[in-house]
Amino acid sequence: MSTTLTIQPRPIDPSVDHEIQAIVSGAGSGSTCNTDLAAGPWDFDTRPGYGPGASMGDVIPTGSPRQGMLPQAYRDASDEELDARIRRAKETLGDRVVVLGHFYQREEVVRHADYVGDSFQLANAALEHPDAEAIVFCGVHFMAETADLLSQPEQAVILPNLAAGCSMADMADIDQVEECWEQLEELYGDMDAPDADGLVPVVPVTYMNSSAAIKGFVGRHGGIVCTSSNARTVLEWAFARGRRVLFFPDQHLGRNTAKAMGVPLAQMPMWNPTKPLGGSDEQTLADARVILWHGFCSVHRRFTVDQIDKARAEHPGVRVIVHPECPMAVVDAADEAGSTDYIRKAIAAATEPTTFAIGTEINLVQRLAAQYPQHEIFCLDPVVCPCSTMYRIHPGYLAWVLEGLVAGDTLNRITVPASDADPARVALERMLAAKPSGSAA
Ligand code: 13P
Ligand code: SF4
Repeated sequence: MSTTLTIQPRPIDPSVDHEIQAIVSGAGSGSTCNTDLAAGPWDFDTRPGYGPGASMGDVIPTGSPRQGMLPQAYRDASDEELDARIRRAKETLGDRVVVLGHFYQREEVVRHADYVGDSFQLANAALEHPDAEAIVFCGVHFMAETADLLSQPEQAVILPNLAAGCSMADMADIDQVEECWEQLEELYGDMDAPDADGLVPVVPVTYMNSSAAIKGFVGRHGGIVCTSSNARTVLEWAFARGRRVLFFPDQHLGRNTAKAMGVPLAQMPMWNPTKPLGGSDEQTLADARVILWHGFCSVHRRFTVDQIDKARAEHPGVRVIVHPECPMAVVDAADEAGSTDYIRKAIAAATEPTTFAIGTEINLVQRLAAQYPQHEIFCLDPVVCPCSTMYRIHPGYLAWVLEGLVAGDTLNRITVPASDADPARVALERMLAAKPSGSAA
């Protein structure tokens, strides 16, 4: 089948929102995955679903937090007015508040952040401010939960829009994970009993992109958390303790990492929580080394080998870097794969003018393109399609929660119950203590 895909470097305006508004109004060329992206995210707050953007096709679990309607004054305010109100509120609050902005946030929010980084760097930034009364996390729900786990008990972690979940994190729900564990226990026997080699049957590993309840589950069952930058180290840790790994929620990060470590694909069955034995059979599960949960990121699933081929054809010498949440064929076809921070550092370290084709969320790519004009940097996906859940943090919500703090109201506080928080911290501490093989202990 022929394709008309053409990959054009984007103009150097870091605001994805401006580009979407221009496309929808007919003033800009290019295409966007959904014209509703040009509307305010509050139009979708009271409707079920993730809203427009890359994860809108996924099913949102019932019971996911919903954001009430943002007060009218914030919905009506112009971009300039919101910008000024955010600045004023931040000035008034001073050191009482720290604003954290994830790499995938829209530019209009990131410019107000005291720290910009990946989910783990931001959780650490929260740790470095034990005296701030409030941490406003412009990211998604699991990131705010992690900041709550790592921050002081009296500090309030605030998520400006409660509907900013993560569709991938939502794909592993605690009841499904408990059910999976029970089925595996029936198959493998006592999950705490080591075999002759001192290995337990299964070590659960969860990606940072998961709920605190799942991190708590993992902590209770001898498991560990990983990020996209330390997944290999964490899998080494797990294989030193268990015969197999149960990896959730992202099948792609699990598969890409285990494959790079030499685990054969045949020993990585998928666990589909809607099917008995996850859709696998007893023999396959007995032989398994890594059981992959049937989860994925809708943003990173959009990248294809075809896009990489086009980029190489249209930009000879292009350096292709993708996030390990991309499908295996895309990671295999790229020159490099790495976390958001890896991508940022790789571009920052390039001394010669270089063309980079990047497979990750558009807001980060566009910001890097603006920051490094000596390079040509573009997103592999020619369609402007931001992460729909990150997109829900519009400056209107940021202004609303900051002005709330000024008025003495702590809006949208995220609190992890102690029953999950204590074991979840154990799983995070194991991750922090895990060292790459070959490094000094
Ligand atoms: P980081 O852990 O690199 O911040 O990535 C989070 C994420 O959501 C990737 O899709
Ligand atoms: Fe979740 Fe993917 Fe969005 Fe990251 S980019 S927050 S994994 S949906």
